[in-house]
Amino acid sequence: NELVFSGVQPTGNLHLGNYLGAIKRFVEMQARDAQCLYCVVDLHAITLWQDPAELKGQIREVTAAFLAAGIDPARSIVFNQSQVPQHAELAWIFNCVARLGWLNRMTQFKDKAGKDRENASVGLYAYPVLMAADILAYRATHVPVGEDQKQHLELTRDIAGKFNNDFSGSIAAHGHGEDFFPITEPLIGGPAARVMSLRDGTKKMSKSDPSDNSRINLTDDADAIAQKVRKAKTDPEPLPSEAAGLSGRPEADNLVGIFAALKDATRDEVLSDYGGAQFSVFKGALVELAVEKLAPLGAEMKRLIADPAHIDAVLADGAARAEAIAAPTLDAVKDIVGFVRKG
Ligand code: TYM
Repeated sequence: NELVFSGVQPTGNLHLGNYLGAIKRFVEMQARDAQCLYCVVDLHAITLWQDPAELKGQIREVTAAFLAAGIDPARSIVFNQSQVPQHAELAWIFNCVARLGWLNRMTQFKDKAGKDRENASVGLYAYPVLMAADILAYRATHVPVGEDQKQHLELTRDIAGKFNNDFSGSIAAHGHGEDFFPITEPLIGGPAARVMSLRDGTKKMSKSDPSDNSRINLTDDADAIAQKVRKAKTDPEPLPSEAAGLSGRPEADNLVGIFAALKDATRDEVLSDYGGAQFSVFKGALVELAVEKLAPLGAEMKRLIADPAHIDAVLADGAARAEAIAAPTLDAVKDIVGFVRKG
């Protein structure tokens, strides 16, 4: 049985990378015959300090982006992490399964903690363990994410495997199959698994880049989108006629990848139309396509955000449905680990 899970942090500035690498693909997953859960990971957000006066708005904004992009909250389960207590509970148990050595290898922690590592929160360090708990509380089999989450999903697989192995006797004694937790399949792909900054093709497009021109925000209007695409860094050569010609040209590769993802095409298909074109021409076409796809999404997000009561109702309904799946998993995990349970 397929079960799809993914999450997005409510840390402000949702951008084109979040959309093309993740949210757009979440929508596509709904067509598969699988239950999908899409989570606004507010517990993850607070691993870096968030202004409490802004956090609620950010949670509602990510929810609005899910809905505006086409996630159907009747079919998929849309919720925020802190309303489902099983995430934090399972994360603690996994903290006792994961090894320090595994976490020490996580590159995102090193990036986010920066130079002053002694001053990073313990939560930031344990972040990927909570992510494993998010996924495995539902025993999810498939996780659509951007390329930057690959290492975290490998850790999730390691935690599932070690739990299955460490508790194999108890898992069998409680009548479960050998693989209590599935070894989750990461779904990383498409032409925009790693969208790069518009100012520097070697840096990931990111919420935290101080330059707003480095990213297209999902709430940018048509003028802002046009201006940012026109200002995007390029190189002096015309476009190649095949994707192979993009190697060593990070900015060209990025813009062609964005075009392809927005158009549901491949880089080669885009280049069969634009090979030999100057960037001025290609950027004109990209502006038109990006505005066509993104401006309505931004407008719908704004409409949804204006009705927080509706969003909060979607999240509450989603949380109840999510908990109905996660609670039996946690019951089984507590039995497997050997805790005394209420009668
Ligand atoms: P977050 O909030 O940083 O990003 C949300 C999703 O967007 C993808 N993404 C990108 N894809 C392509 N190009 C980019 N430049 C780009 N930037 C971000 C991310 O890969 C992600 O899929 N740890 C996760 C949230 C999370 C999660 C989970 C994901 C928590 N629990 C369980 C999957 C399953 C994160 O910080 O995503």
